[in-house]
Amino acid sequence: MDIRVLTPSDIPHVQSTNITNLPENYFLKYYLYHALSWPQLSYVAVDVCRPKKTPYDPPKIVGYVLAKMEEEPANGIPHGHITSLSVMRTHRRLGLAEKLMKQSQRAMVETYNAQYVSLHVRVSNVAALKLYRDTLGFEVEKVESKYYADGEDAYSMKMNLEFIKEQLEETYGKDEGEAVGEEGKENGKKDDEKKERKRKVKIGRGLGVGDLVEKNESKA
Ligand code: ACO
Repeated sequence: MDIRVLTPSDIPHVQSTNITNLPENYFLKYYLYHALSWPQLSYVAVDVCRPKKTPYDPPKIVGYVLAKMEEEPANGIPHGHITSLSVMRTHRRLGLAEKLMKQSQRAMVETYNAQYVSLHVRVSNVAALKLYRDTLGFEVEKVESKYYADGEDAYSMKMNLEFIKEQLEETYGKDEGEAVGEEGKENGKKDDEKKERKRKVKIGRGLGVGDLVEKNESKA
């Protein structure tokens, strides 16, 4: 089994997996929107045990997680959102959903500095609830009444991702790269303020140590 990032050419196969497994279905362009806007966050599980008969055979996608970043978070905190997750019946209880979720959560932190991840799940969905709450560590934030088209309530769930940041820092050290996006703009503003506060100081020759650090060839 191969867990890899979703590419646009996987989308029709992911869409058919979604239609097979869930009543919440989306237009093709919604998948494309995820894949193009947050290409690091959605993953597929591909059964690679069945050899392709021709190079044109489609990949056998048996599971997927479709994920995104919340575009304008009301609380201003960058966080991810799981739009949809499913695994084909034939491939359940192999740990695929857990792996897909963990890959996506890690990418949310690594790429977008997400602080937490959220999702909605039907209150009657025992299997998914067990996966989210007991296996992964999500918590129920609130119940959203009649969230689904058929009138069923949803649990709105959340999971803090701070521990992934700590794990990454332990393994790779602190990220010293420049922040990008909104955080980058904020940091840019702070840098501008710092620059305004800066005052010129004399260094090197200006301090009268020029002769010590380099010879003045022209005088010689
Ligand atoms: N009953 C009880 N617990 C379960 C079940 C189940 N049927 N399925 C998974 N779990 C729990 C178990 O604790 C399991 O660990 P274990 O097997 O060691 O006991 C753990 O979750 C991890 O299970 P995985 O093997 O990773 O889960 P799987 O790959 O089978 O996929 C999923 C679980 C996605 C819920 C699958 O059953 C499915 O596709 N269901 C239909 C679609 C669906 O409900 N998707 C979620 C909708 S919510 C959303 O999309 C945001």
